[in-house]
Amino acid sequence: MRISPPDLLKKKSLNQKIAVITVYDYTFANIVEEAGFEVMLVGDSLGMVVQGHENTIPVTMDEMIYHTKIVTRATKKSMIIGDMPYMSYQVSNEECLKNASRFLKEGLANAVKIEGGRETVDKVRLMTLSEIPVVAHIGLTPQSIHRIGGYKVQGRTEESKKRLLEDAKMLEEAGAFCMVLEAIPSDLAKTITESISIPTIGIGAGPHCDGQVLVLHDLLGLFDRFLPKFVKRYANLKDSALSALKEYKADVEKGLFPSEKESF
Ligand code: KIV
Repeated sequence: MRISPPDLLKKKSLNQKIAVITVYDYTFANIVEEAGFEVMLVGDSLGMVVQGHENTIPVTMDEMIYHTKIVTRATKKSMIIGDMPYMSYQVSNEECLKNASRFLKEGLANAVKIEGGRETVDKVRLMTLSEIPVVAHIGLTPQSIHRIGGYKVQGRTEESKKRLLEDAKMLEEAGAFCMVLEAIPSDLAKTITESISIPTIGIGAGPHCDGQVLVLHDLLGLFDRFLPKFVKRYANLKDSALSALKEYKADVEKGLFPSEKESF
């Protein structure tokens, strides 16, 4: 049995932090599960780190389902959350429900994530009532990049702090079982975390959340187009990959590989 929403609620009640990571393919999903992660997010950030888009807006439902299927196939125990891409839930409640159910039926995900505050409350309620576990996502919501005008920290003014706290409570009441808090001041993240009973998962939200999520390619140093302040790099795999690739290329060019050892 995979990790479920009650397991995460229990973790919060026991004050145990939840480590989450984004994953998009079979090889990394295997490694991430072997590393002991209980929760993986197939994030629409794949639009940037896998597909090379400037932002997450172009990502489609079919692409998300494709990657979600791969990740669920690679894992046995972890909870797999499918990220609802831009325009898969905004048009209507019916469209939202239909697309969310595709993550469970086709992608075999265990939950979905949806960006937005009070404007998504009806959708969160509808999905929850239809047995689709929902992760909410407030603060900096990357699908709103054109309105916001960049990847800016949210919740800096008293008014927006109040609004985000209200949003968090409304989303919990609508049935969300977990909530991503992105790029908000840590004092606000602390207040939200203490005001709701579901776990908060921070990214650029300071140390007081119930858990943390990072984009795999950022954490491993594979993606260096830009590095947000909130990212901690735990490895520099781009450099390792570069030197391995250069060595292989040189070996082939010098006739050193393949040798007798690699031949039949
Ligand atoms: O798409 C994504 O990877 C995300 C996380 C960074 C929260 O939404």
